[in-house]
Amino acid sequence: MDALLIKGGKRLSGVIEVAGSKNIALAVLSAVPLAQTPVLIRNVPVISDTQIKVQLLESFGAKAEWQGSDLRIDCSELHSAEPDEDMVRLIRTSFYMLGPLVARVGSLRMAAPGGCKIGARPVDLHLKGLHALGAKVELDGGVYEASAGVLRGSEVYLDMPSAGATQHIMCAASMARGVTTIQNAAMEPEIVALAEFLTSLGAKISGQGSSLITIEGVEQLGGSEYKIPADRIQAGTFLIAGAMTGGNVTVKEINADDQTAVVNKLREAGAEVETTETSVTVNAPNRLNGVNIKTMPHPGFPTDVQQPMAAALCVANGASVVEETIYESRTGHLPELSRMGANIRQEGRSAFIVGVDKLRGAKVQASDLRAGAALCLAGLVAEGETLVQNIHWIDRGYDSIERKLTELGADASRVQDS
Ligand code: UD1
Repeated sequence: MDALLIKGGKRLSGVIEVAGSKNIALAVLSAVPLAQTPVLIRNVPVISDTQIKVQLLESFGAKAEWQGSDLRIDCSELHSAEPDEDMVRLIRTSFYMLGPLVARVGSLRMAAPGGCKIGARPVDLHLKGLHALGAKVELDGGVYEASAGVLRGSEVYLDMPSAGATQHIMCAASMARGVTTIQNAAMEPEIVALAEFLTSLGAKISGQGSSLITIEGVEQLGGSEYKIPADRIQAGTFLIAGAMTGGNVTVKEINADDQTAVVNKLREAGAEVETTETSVTVNAPNRLNGVNIKTMPHPGFPTDVQQPMAAALCVANGASVVEETIYESRTGHLPELSRMGANIRQEGRSAFIVGVDKLRGAKVQASDLRAGAALCLAGLVAEGETLVQNIHWIDRGYDSIERKLTELGADASRVQDS
C-alpha cells in the first residue's frame, strides 16, 4: 500500500493552480443522467470518486470516454439496473444520482451509500424532497428501491441547508412537471455551479446562491459543454499549507470570493493575504497566531477546511478553539496530531488547541479525506519524517497532493508501505 512521506521544515513558496472541484464534478455527474444527448464535461478531477461515479453511470447504460480531464458522456440510452453494492458504498454521492436516474428509467434498486466516516450522514432530507416530487423510495435490507411515474413540482422546506439534498432536489425537479421551490436551500458555490450546469442543459432555475431556489420543470434536457470550476477546498488547503510554514503561496485561477472565510481567518491569524478576482496570495510570518474557528454552512467557515486549519493551529502562537458544527465526528485527525506532539484537548466536537513550538514526525493514519490532508500539512512543519498511511482517503479528493506540495517546495513523496 502507498503512503506519503513528508520531511518537514521547508518554507513553501510559489504559484499553483488547483484541479477542478471534486464536489462540483460529483454534483454534475449526479445530474448527467438527466441529459438525453451527449455532454462534454471539462476539467474533471481524475480521482477515485469521479472514476467510481462514472462506472456507476456505466452500469445504467451510460457511455463514457475520458481524455485526460475531459469526460464525454452519453446518457441517451439508459436502462434500469442494480449497481454493485460494494461500488455504491465507496462513495456517498452514489445516492445523489437516485432522483435523476429514477426520473429517466422509472425504477431501480441501489444500495445505501458510503463515504467518509465523519458522522451518521442521514439522507432524510433527500427522501423528503423526492417524496414531495412524487417518487417512491423505500429502504429494504440496506437497498433503496425507487420508482417514479411523472414527477410533479412541489414546495420543499429543508430542515437544514444540506448541500447534497439541495443538489438532489434541484436535479429531480428540473424534469418534474411544474414549479418546485426549495426553501432553506444550501448556498454553497457547488449549488451555484450545479445550477449553471443544469441551465446549460436547458433547465430553468433561479435563486441559486440564496436560500430560496425555484426550478421550473422542462420536458427534456441535454447536450452541453461545461467546465468544472477550480476546487475551493484544495485552494484553501494549499493556502493554509503556505501560511503555516511561514511561506508565500499564490493559488491562481480560482474564484477568490469562495475563499472569504479562509482569507479572513488567515488575516486574523497574522498573515498578509491579497486577493484579485481569480487569485489569493498568502504571505505569512514565521508563526501564525491562534484563532477560533467555527464551521458553518456557506458563507461560514467550511467544514472541509476545518481539519487542515486545525493542523495549522497546532503550531500557532497561543490558544485556539476549533468547533465543528456540521458533522458530529469530523475529529479523526485530532488523536493523530497528538501523536505528533500537538497539545489538543477534545471535548465532543470541539478541539481546544494550545500551539506548540514544534511537531515531531511520526507514523500517522488518515481516517478520512480532510483528516489525511491535515496530517500532510502537519508533516510540513514537523521535525523529521512523517509517514501518512491510509492515503486512499486523500486520493479521493486530491489528485496527487504530494505533487502540488512539491511544486511549492515541500519534500513530499509517495512511497511503498508494507
Ligand atoms: C457535501 C460535501 C462535503 C461537505 C458538505 C458540507 C460532496 C460530495 N460533499 O456533503 O464535502 O463537507 O457538503 O458542506 O459534495 N444532513 C441531514 N439529512 C440529510 C442530508 C444531510 O441531516 O438528508 C446533515 C448531514 O448529516 C450534515 C449536514 O446535514 O450534518 C450537512 O450535510 P450536507 O450539506 O448534505 O453534506 P453532503 O452533501 O453530504
